[in-house]
Amino acid sequence: LFLCSIVNAPGHLVDGAPHHLRARFLSAKKSPGYAWHYVDHHMAHAASAFFASPFQKAAILTLDGRGEKSTTGYYFGEGLCMDKIADVQMPHSFGLLYEAVTTYLGFLHSSDEYKVMALASYGNPAFIDYFDKLISVHPDGTYTIGDPRLEETFGPPRERGGPIEKRHLDIASSLQKALEQKVLQLARWLHNKIPVDDLCIAGGVGLNCVLNARLRDHGPFKRIWVQPAAGDSGTALGAALWVDIQSRHQGPGLATQPHDYRMDHAYLGPSYSDEEIYDFLCYAKQDFAELASVEEDVADLLTQDKVVGWFQGRMEFGPRALGARSIIASPLNASMQARLNEIKDREDFRPVAPVVLEEEANHWFLNAGVSPFMLFVHDVQSSKAGLIPAVRHVDGTARIQTIRQDQNPKYYGVIKEFQKRTGVPVLVNTSFNTRGKPIVCTPRDAVECFHSSPIDALVIGSFLLHKREKA
Ligand SMILES: [Fe+2]
Repeated sequence: LFLCSIVNAPGHLVDGAPHHLRARFLSAKKSPGYAWHYVDHHMAHAASAFFASPFQKAAILTLDGRGEKSTTGYYFGEGLCMDKIADVQMPHSFGLLYEAVTTYLGFLHSSDEYKVMALASYGNPAFIDYFDKLISVHPDGTYTIGDPRLEETFGPPRERGGPIEKRHLDIASSLQKALEQKVLQLARWLHNKIPVDDLCIAGGVGLNCVLNARLRDHGPFKRIWVQPAAGDSGTALGAALWVDIQSRHQGPGLATQPHDYRMDHAYLGPSYSDEEIYDFLCYAKQDFAELASVEEDVADLLTQDKVVGWFQGRMEFGPRALGARSIIASPLNASMQARLNEIKDREDFRPVAPVVLEEEANHWFLNAGVSPFMLFVHDVQSSKAGLIPAVRHVDGTARIQTIRQDQNPKYYGVIKEFQKRTGVPVLVNTSFNTRGKPIVCTPRDAVECFHSSPIDALVIGSFLLHKREKA
């Protein structure tokens, strides 16, 4: 029944909203120009990647759990045009295989896949032959995946919260390596079909920053742009961009016209003025101070090894905190990673990621260039590794964010001030939330998270809330 409903979705929308949404959209129906548009799931992912990218012409790869019947899609985008080349359908899905292993390893599927990716760095790919045989890539660019039978092959699954054994690490490592190798094969097929320089990626598997780095370093494309909201949240953006282009542009010559949107940053969410924040802090009877210079005062706190809740401007769209709703800290001491994991009540093996001034990125991370969305890992430059131990993962990499002044002046400014004090243009940046909770959005969320966790200080707009040290 479920499969029927998604397959028939385009037909259902022809004469109006699905029944469970009719009441909600009743008033919208009275507005002129109201119309339902059906955008295929992978088409929406592909549009979110290409029409937000800096590229005029690109191959597009969508890698997903599933959307309708498809799990993987190949597209070609040029100007305002985008065409589907091929797809792979259920039940063969890299996303679903990764989910199955995530469940087997005692984590939450469709949510904790990044934990499996992090665990992979601690293991050896001892079982790569198993996954290699399980996944067959065919000459037409499709692939098939056999029944994983994980328990039969690897024994009982890990219980949630149970000990992590060496075999768990090795299974994660083998899966990750196999995924990288197989997706490299898909990328080579796509490049043969569409021999262009640039590749766009979306779909939940696109959040695998180790895979993205492998494609960058060993794949056939010169440049790769990954939609920062590569998971299903990004389909909202992609569907809107696709419908907008279709409704505003028709006729010949579309391939030569540039798309007018380029996603230079992800600060597309709600924001709160200083006045609104002040009113809330007074209402909530908070003890706070107004800062003369947020950047300088916060840099001072960071150099004292304080962990700071950082709430500034418009919230990020997508799963990554990128300096609008972040917890920031000094990377100078190795112990900061464990401290942050404790503050956020996260597993010990979870790395924390660095943000670095864009102009300094290459000095600190190998071939870093521009990477504003934390979607690629880079090796830490060996000469600098000892200076920023907190952000160096066990395999010597870091999932970096680069930042320019025009993208987020206050965030840039605080890193610059930290550099003036320490010589290091890098901070730890992790999402402003605790385990199992969404990233904070409103001032109320931020204050609640601040008071229910051992974060030392909260900087919200121009205001500072500080916890007193216990005597
Ligand atoms: Fe999806």
